[in-house]
Amino acid sequence: MIELRNVSVSFQQKGKEIRAVEAVDINIEKGDIYGIVGYSGAGKSTLVRVMNLLQKPTEGEVIINRTNLGELSPKALRKERKTIGMIFQHFNLMESRTIFDNVDFSLKYTGKSKQERCQKVNELLELVGLADKANAYPKQLSGGQKQRVAIARALANEPKVLLCDEATSALDPKTTQQILTLLKKLNRTLGLTIVLITHEMQVVKEICNKVAVMEKGKIIEKGSSIQIFSDPKEELTKDFIRTATHIDQALERIQEHSAFAHQLENKWLVELSYVGNRTNEPLIAHLYSKYQVTANILYGNVEFLQETPLGSLVVTLSGETHQRQKALDYLIGQGVIVHILKKDEKNSQIRVIEGGK
Ligand SMILES: Nc1ncnc2c1ncn2[C@@H]1O[C@H](COP(=O)(O)OP(=O)(O)OP(=O)(O)O)[C@@H](O)[C@H]1O
Ligand SMILES: [Mg+2]
Repeated sequence: MIELRNVSVSFQQKGKEIRAVEAVDINIEKGDIYGIVGYSGAGKSTLVRVMNLLQKPTEGEVIINRTNLGELSPKALRKERKTIGMIFQHFNLMESRTIFDNVDFSLKYTGKSKQERCQKVNELLELVGLADKANAYPKQLSGGQKQRVAIARALANEPKVLLCDEATSALDPKTTQQILTLLKKLNRTLGLTIVLITHEMQVVKEICNKVAVMEKGKIIEKGSSIQIFSDPKEELTKDFIRTATHIDQALERIQEHSAFAHQLENKWLVELSYVGNRTNEPLIAHLYSKYQVTANILYGNVEFLQETPLGSLVVTLSGETHQRQKALDYLIGQGVIVHILKKDEKNSQIRVIEGGK
């Protein structure tokens, strides 16, 4: 659907070259809700403007619906651009026009009759849950409602892709949730492909099936959300994920509370993560029956990545040292992701000392 091959974008500023996007390869497939995460200045908006054909890449190829955009005439490019809708953080509505007119404006040059346009606008407002606001003005709406208008307007020309640049960043958590639910509905019912730019991993967790992490113009890690959430490789990715899960707070509490201190004596402290519906109880029971290793659960949590459970446990392990290692190998064999947090008493800091698959 959208394929970027080795795309770079540079800007010249005061004689200096700014490499906003560097050698990005990305493949967004039909029906994806693709999250692009990164801190301010990472190059997310520039990257999305490349997808929107508003920004010509300095290097590389942009292929949309099997068409190489570099090869299109300006007219063909304008036509192709219509298959891509976009929404922004600050909605960009026309304040002096009604909600109806804001949406209708997108249909102005489509050759549709007045009646057809009217019907289309009403359908769109119905779709985003604003049928009763047609005659209101933007200033009479809440932020969430304004973003709904922007979504209706972006969908007027029936795009195949909707690009969202920080579309929920100006909204409170509850409104954010409602907008995400609407986007998910549009993805399901219209088969709309969505690219979602955000600096909040929580947003990715709610609706994205894939995610790419950007830093200094480069994509440093990408994959399915499940893959990235259950086994992030890069430090920055881990940072982002920690903001959307509770494991760090749990580890801090374990470290701080003296009640836990004696529980850690002569034991290993291990974090276990697993994806899917596998219940971990038999696995924990097997550690004892197979290896005489006792696992004591200090913390347990299940996060949901849309419908997929992602479990994490922090446990202490006691038993023969070599049996502990065997027990962990057994868990890894069962698809559990194991991170050893503490093995040695002299290690006062709880952190990953061994881990991954
Ligand atoms: N038109 C431009 N001219 C010069 N430099 C630019 C231009 N557009 C972006 N940049 C620079 O490119 C880099 C990436 O900017 P970009 O807006 O893509 O980042 P971003 O990840 O969207 O950040 P934010 O989260 O703050 O929106 C920044 O250093 C920015 O200053
Ligand atoms: Mg931006």
